[in-house]
Amino acid sequence: MSTFQAPKGTYDLIPPKSAVTLAVREAIAAPLKNSGYGYIETPGFENVELFSRGVGESTDIVSKEMYAFETKGGDKLALRPEGTASVLRAALEANLHKAGNLPVKLWYSGSYYRYERPQKGRYRHFSQVGAEAIGAEDPALDAELIILAHQAYRSLGLRDFRILLNSLGDKECRPVYRDALQSFLRALELDEDTRRRIEINPLRVLDDKRAEVQKQLVGAPMLRDYLCDACKAYHEEVRELLTAAGVGYEDDEKLVRGLDYYTRTTFEFVHDGLGSQSAVGGGGRYDGLSEMIGGPALPSVGWALGVDRTILALEAEGIELELPSTTSVFAVPLGEEARRVLFGLVTELRRAGVAADFSYGAKGLKGAMKSANRSGARYTVVAGERDLAEGVVQLKDMQSGEQSPVPLADAANTIRERLA
Ligand code: HAM
Repeated sequence: MSTFQAPKGTYDLIPPKSAVTLAVREAIAAPLKNSGYGYIETPGFENVELFSRGVGESTDIVSKEMYAFETKGGDKLALRPEGTASVLRAALEANLHKAGNLPVKLWYSGSYYRYERPQKGRYRHFSQVGAEAIGAEDPALDAELIILAHQAYRSLGLRDFRILLNSLGDKECRPVYRDALQSFLRALELDEDTRRRIEINPLRVLDDKRAEVQKQLVGAPMLRDYLCDACKAYHEEVRELLTAAGVGYEDDEKLVRGLDYYTRTTFEFVHDGLGSQSAVGGGGRYDGLSEMIGGPALPSVGWALGVDRTILALEAEGIELELPSTTSVFAVPLGEEARRVLFGLVTELRRAGVAADFSYGAKGLKGAMKSANRSGARYTVVAGERDLAEGVVQLKDMQSGEQSPVPLADAANTIRERLA
């Protein structure tokens, strides 16, 4: 070990497990790529105000968890705690919304940073794959995104997840509800912190996990009863489209989510094998965010799935992804001449697209065969002086253990044929 360790709440991705992370990212991205979403990448840090205005000053994410700092040049920046505000900022900056092709559909994959209390499934540096559909108000778009996340999880073999669905109303009906909820909450016996939350973000109080708070919340006004007709019809349409697609969901009127920008549709994917950090992904509609960060009205919807928690969900269900073996052929030279010849063969194989590796360093046959075994290669090519004198290499099938000489001149072709 060195003097240093990974900072608290962070982790290193190390082979062979790191291959699972790549596969999960790919599995989440695949349905998006297949549905008109284009890849976008934005910086790891942004102007801090993008998040305080976009995600919301009153949220935990901004008020407690943001890595905000001032640069030597005096710029106030923050490591991105989430992707939506950045992606929308980038789309507006590039004028994607003016190309006359709405919605602008984008997907992304990257690292995000929140100064949280670390525990299993909750890290200070974590990984998300996300999707945003910008500039269209259409229940089919909300449904599309939920269906694609569902498809991604299913393609990984996951079964024990549930979709929680809610509508948070719009700028017409939500303020009316907020007033009613505040009046109700102010009359309860609550601690100082919670009382403050009533004034800043009363919907979050509904989400309080403590039993003594939940007990008092019985009979609280529910948003469902305050939704305006337009919001109700919109939500009904989303639900019908999901049902028609065979995607099951649970109505959860307490689902408010931890970011302020949501309007109408909100949803969360929860996994029952994960304990307290059960949300593997979440998202919703954010019709007002563009205006909040100085853009035009652009109703939008999106989600982000947590890669770390998705991997924990796979483990909880005992799912082992079928990852293609990274190495197909491993070359073991015996002697200097064989090193040059087999190195040439490995190079040739690689250029032909065959995953090949080589025994480096001065290892004996035993050590080299151990490396060959560890590599997971299907075939090992062994050659010594006598083989080369006869113009052959020994090709060993690592599954059957059978070994036979093949002419060096068409070794590459023979190997490719056997692998095919
Ligand atoms: P979020 O619910 O804050 O939403 O995060 C989405 C997912 O990221 C969570 O469900 C979880 O799996 C993962 N995640 C969040 N924090 C951590 C953490 N500290 N450690 C490990 N995983 C974590 C958003 O970020 C929104 N931008 C989603 C969205 C996109 N809404 C609209 N468009």
